[in-house]
Amino acid sequence: MSEPTVTSTPRPWSQRFEGSLHPAIARFNASIGFDIRLLPYDVAGSLAHVQMLAACGILTRQEADQIRQGLEQIQQEAAAGTFRPDPEAEDVHYAVERRLVALVGEVGKKLHTGRSRNDQVATDLRLYLRDQIDHLRQALWELRGVLLDLAERHLETILPGYTHLQRAQPISLAHHLLAYEEMLWRDWQRLGRVREEVNVCPLGSGALAGTSLPIDRQLTAHLLGFERISANSLDAVSDRDYLVEFHTAASLILVHLSRLSEEVILWASQEFGFVTLTDACATGSSLMPQKKNPDVPELVRGKAGRVFGHLQALLVTLKGLPLAYNKDLQEDKEGLFDTVDTLKACLEAMTILLREGIQFQPERMAAAVQEDFSNATDVADYLVRKGIPFRMAHDLVGQIVRICLAEGILLRDLPLQRWKTFHPVFEADILTVIDPRQVVAARLSAGGTGFAVVQEALQRAQARHQQPKPLEETSQT
Ligand code: ARG
Repeated sequence: MSEPTVTSTPRPWSQRFEGSLHPAIARFNASIGFDIRLLPYDVAGSLAHVQMLAACGILTRQEADQIRQGLEQIQQEAAAGTFRPDPEAEDVHYAVERRLVALVGEVGKKLHTGRSRNDQVATDLRLYLRDQIDHLRQALWELRGVLLDLAERHLETILPGYTHLQRAQPISLAHHLLAYEEMLWRDWQRLGRVREEVNVCPLGSGALAGTSLPIDRQLTAHLLGFERISANSLDAVSDRDYLVEFHTAASLILVHLSRLSEEVILWASQEFGFVTLTDACATGSSLMPQKKNPDVPELVRGKAGRVFGHLQALLVTLKGLPLAYNKDLQEDKEGLFDTVDTLKACLEAMTILLREGIQFQPERMAAAVQEDFSNATDVADYLVRKGIPFRMAHDLVGQIVRICLAEGILLRDLPLQRWKTFHPVFEADILTVIDPRQVVAARLSAGGTGFAVVQEALQRAQARHQQPKPLEETSQT
């Protein structure tokens, strides 16, 4: 085979054209600037492909060996950071092929037998994402570990629980922290389910319709650690559902991290004072010398929006596409890479923030609990236990609270004889019932904040955290 005629902007994929591509259009068309990230996965996919071609007798063993050696050399260059894509390479797939031909000569031109860049890029994306999901699950696992450690230390730390950002009922700080662990546990599981959707091999679907060569798709899939092969070639090259699912899972993780961030920001304010920021994570103001700012949680809260945007962008890209591959799909990558990077950075920052960036202030929390009427429900429950219908009890306690407010006192300031004037069933034990610690301890319904229940919840969460780490459990190699 003769070398293609080299024009000023050669067209790697075809001899069909006479004129050369406008340089600005070549730049516009190219994805090498960002898809170079897929390099190790592209090479891994090619290694499996060539092994399959040899096993099927489409390439000789000797040809396959030569190509394998070239690809391994590229793999080493990629790992060492010395791989320099040919300046004329439009994308990572073509860059690898050019380098291969430069390394092993004409035989390298046999690599692309029985495949297309359409099934190739889908394969690369899936390999890349599978790997990233494993790392992200590891990061989630670590963050959950920090939450569990904190929960263990703060089982008996009491703070106000809020609804409508109004003090509602006192709770255990461990219960609050475990609420986030619960979210992240769901996220960890959800990412595992997304991984199953990702772990499907599209290679061998060709450009859109399969191939007339006698390939063995199961073998390629097996070599790449894929669970199964895609069923329909048209779907395989145009499907990006797994990216939508990943962006969705990523968005939910960031919803959770953003809500936690919001609480840290509120709690670090002087108004709350429930946490202080250590120097490890706090930043100063260029103007106000006294300031200590919670930049880390603010950034996490802010970055969440970017990731939601990538989900939206992808959905919009997909919604109008006819089958099968369309170049619009090249736009799937930058958002994906940014979502992965942002999520990794946020998980790491939150892990550091919780581990060494904040200090809880149990005294401030306890004082906040003392100074309000968040024990009022317990007075109503007390009356219910004495046989009074809840609605009547609720009304009566409402009146008691109104009287206390008018007198500028709290429930605990009422002596027993006044309680009795409100209702004869009140006995001395009402004074214990309204003690905040007792208020928390009494909420022993399943999933509640009672210390004993939280202790059990903590043990359950610790047990599931003892399971093999995600990388050990799921990685293929
Ligand atoms: N760079 C392309 C992408 O990211 C690779 C697939 C190109 N396929 C094609 N038929 N032009 O989607």
